[in-house]
Amino acid sequence: MTKNIKLRIGVLISGNGSNLQSIINACEDSNFPAELAIVISNKTDAYGLVRAKKSNIKTKVIEHENFKHRSEFEKNINRALIEANVELVCLAGFMRILTNTFVCSWKERLINIHPSLLPAFKGLNTHQRAIECGVKFSGCTIHFVSSEMDEGPIILQAAVPVHQHDTSKTLAKRVLDTEHKLYPFAIRLFANKRIKIEKDLVKFTNIQDSNEILINPTTKN
Ligand code: GRF
Repeated sequence: MTKNIKLRIGVLISGNGSNLQSIINACEDSNFPAELAIVISNKTDAYGLVRAKKSNIKTKVIEHENFKHRSEFEKNINRALIEANVELVCLAGFMRILTNTFVCSWKERLINIHPSLLPAFKGLNTHQRAIECGVKFSGCTIHFVSSEMDEGPIILQAAVPVHQHDTSKTLAKRVLDTEHKLYPFAIRLFANKRIKIEKDLVKFTNIQDSNEILINPTTKN
């Protein structure tokens, strides 16, 4: 019998961890091609730690406040990821900026989710800024991490409408619901080796129809 080898992922969080939960749920399916090797938080009170523990996933708290230099903080994260044999690092609401050294050591193996359609609305308060700009669609983006914040080759995006009476809260909820579909999908594509980077752009292998990589909206109608 051949052993089913799954991609080992490490998730870095700072807070609620609803995206982490969507990854945990996906990994519970025996057909999902990845498994959660470790969850690392830079905050002791991150609710995502509770979620991970409930599912018996290894957790580690590495508080940035305990280190004088960012490089020491990152070295500890790096060590924990390597010790857990992590092959892909997923940032999911991890609220620390990573240095070039860390980013380079996980080149093409470090992905992030951002709650806007990049390159629009990099940084914080994305939903409020989207509403104030009057955009009619917003959404979320999964991208490889580069040394510039919220940059790096875009892997997947999903769009949602922005309604006239939206508040940042109502829009955040609509986007977050979509994030929960998008993150496991990106991990699946990565684990199945469907993603490649050519000249800083993401291309997919074995694509029959571009709807295959579109969650929301699809071009089917
Ligand atoms: C999400 O909106 C994600 O896009 C952003 O931070 C938020 C994290 O939410 N990077 P959660 O902790 O996964 O619930």
